[in-house]
Amino acid sequence: MCSGQPVTLVRVCVVRVLKDVLPFSEFLTDAFGRRHSYLRISLTEKCNLRCQYCMPEEGVKLTPRSQLLTTEEVLTLARLFVHEGVEKIRLTGGEPLIRPDVLHIIAEMRKLEGLKTIAITTNGINLARVLPGLKKAGVDLLNISLDSLVPAKFEFIVRRKGFHKVIEGIDKAVEMGYNPVKVNCVVMRGLNEDELLDFVALTEKKPLDVRFIEYMPFDGNKWNFKKMVSYAEMLDHIKQQWPNLEPLPGDETGTAKAFRVPGFKGQLGFITSMSDNFCGSCNRLRITADGNLKVCLFGNSEVSLRDFLRSGASDEELLQIIGAAVGRKKKQHAGMFNISQMKNRPMILIGGLGGYLRQTSLSGLSQTLPKQRRPLQQSLREHHSQNDGPKNFSTANLLFSNKDGTSDQLTHTDAQGKASMVNVGDKAVTCRTATACALVILGPKAFGLVRANQLAKGDALAVAQLAGIMGAKQTSSLIPLCHPLPLDHASVTVELQEEGHMAVVMATCQTTGRTGVEMEALTAVTVAALALYDMCKAVSRDIVITDIKLLSKTGGRRGDFQRTS
Ligand code: 5AD
Ligand code: SF4
Repeated sequence: MCSGQPVTLVRVCVVRVLKDVLPFSEFLTDAFGRRHSYLRISLTEKCNLRCQYCMPEEGVKLTPRSQLLTTEEVLTLARLFVHEGVEKIRLTGGEPLIRPDVLHIIAEMRKLEGLKTIAITTNGINLARVLPGLKKAGVDLLNISLDSLVPAKFEFIVRRKGFHKVIEGIDKAVEMGYNPVKVNCVVMRGLNEDELLDFVALTEKKPLDVRFIEYMPFDGNKWNFKKMVSYAEMLDHIKQQWPNLEPLPGDETGTAKAFRVPGFKGQLGFITSMSDNFCGSCNRLRITADGNLKVCLFGNSEVSLRDFLRSGASDEELLQIIGAAVGRKKKQHAGMFNISQMKNRPMILIGGLGGYLRQTSLSGLSQTLPKQRRPLQQSLREHHSQNDGPKNFSTANLLFSNKDGTSDQLTHTDAQGKASMVNVGDKAVTCRTATACALVILGPKAFGLVRANQLAKGDALAVAQLAGIMGAKQTSSLIPLCHPLPLDHASVTVELQEEGHMAVVMATCQTTGRTGVEMEALTAVTVAALALYDMCKAVSRDIVITDIKLLSKTGGRRGDFQRTS
């Protein structure tokens, strides 16, 4: 193929061949084998909008101009990264189109051998005007933000005028042959969730790729879990209107789950950073406008490439710094709802189905508890007759004696026998984890539908996972004497097991604090199991939730617990 070509073309061919043969740059490969071939460069911190989900009304404090990357610095870094194997660069902001040298930067990047795609994320306000220039300079892909199709609502969300300019920009992009034109819509409950179907309808006649984005928490955007509409919920809503919505194959590192309504020109997608992170296949790196390299959008670890550039570092030195930062990249983002990757955990063998039934009164308990627990009930009765306390307890008052070291003292009642929360102020702050599980025996019909993701209500496993996470977070408001505590991490997995037609729900919670998270883990699996029940109950009511139990617990004062049976 390459023979007989001029020298430069031969070089191009050689570079291409070598790229296919040689291993990917070690500097851009992290400890988990992820190859970072996608770089996002922020060209400016400034923006002509004030989107509610992005920044506070008064805007953000801007970095002084002298500390922002110059044109040459942007291009030097781009060159370095592309040389190492970056194939796609996305220009972002702020609003990248307000940077005066944007066209020059793009045109120069276009010359970089090996760079396959130049993309730009814009709010669309200036788009129609600069589109011809962008196209000429070599932009391949456009992502345009649009959060409402109702002008007044658009202006409320972005706190500025400009709806018609954005629409004009989108239309012009389509006219100029961009296909697809990606439209980003951050979905917020109570604001624009009612417009999902209108956005999908836009894809009927136009080659748009509408991407519904789960609302993410960032500093200053007053994020609140209730405002987030999950992927599962959006999909469910859209499927009610278009039940034959078909999933499209995604690319390996893509962040969006893609769908198309059969016969529609465009498509839609969901960016599920919150309910189902895509850290495992993350291939992105970011450079901020002031030249910091960020290896994860949600991490706060940054290294200033600008400072090294300005102190005269060589390419090799810069690569060492970049390589070290990439090497430190965590497996997945933390501090938010992480749906952990079950595949990375050992499979746990689930024991027999002989669980305890919780009862709400002592008399009920006496009939159902196994023999070794009887003495405690007697001691409870004695305790309460001594204290003249209430004669009937809720289970919240009970603390069972156990051979694993749990106490048989009544720690959750005061001197009058009234419920009281234990003061944990004197306990040591430690890292505490707990893992619990539950089984949901679905029966063959519900099992088959869940497995094929064919339930009318939608993706039952995703909903159950998310419900479990929410359950973990809500534990202290559900269990009366449970302490509210900050969760460092909560992960819920729901795995289907053909044998027995059941789903195995597992939850692991972690906190750094004075009290443990076993209730959080148990609540998580219980709520996840209930959500799964709810998703399937139209198909079968012969569903049994069973074997809710703690599997392990670490970090507590009384030592670790590991279930052996
Ligand atoms: N949640 C989700 N997406 C956001 N974006 C900005 N802030 C948020 C947020 N809090 C995305 C939007 C916008 C792009 C610039 O960044 O999609 O279009
Ligand atoms: Fe933020 Fe983009 Fe909105 Fe500007 S347009 S405020 S950068 S989300």
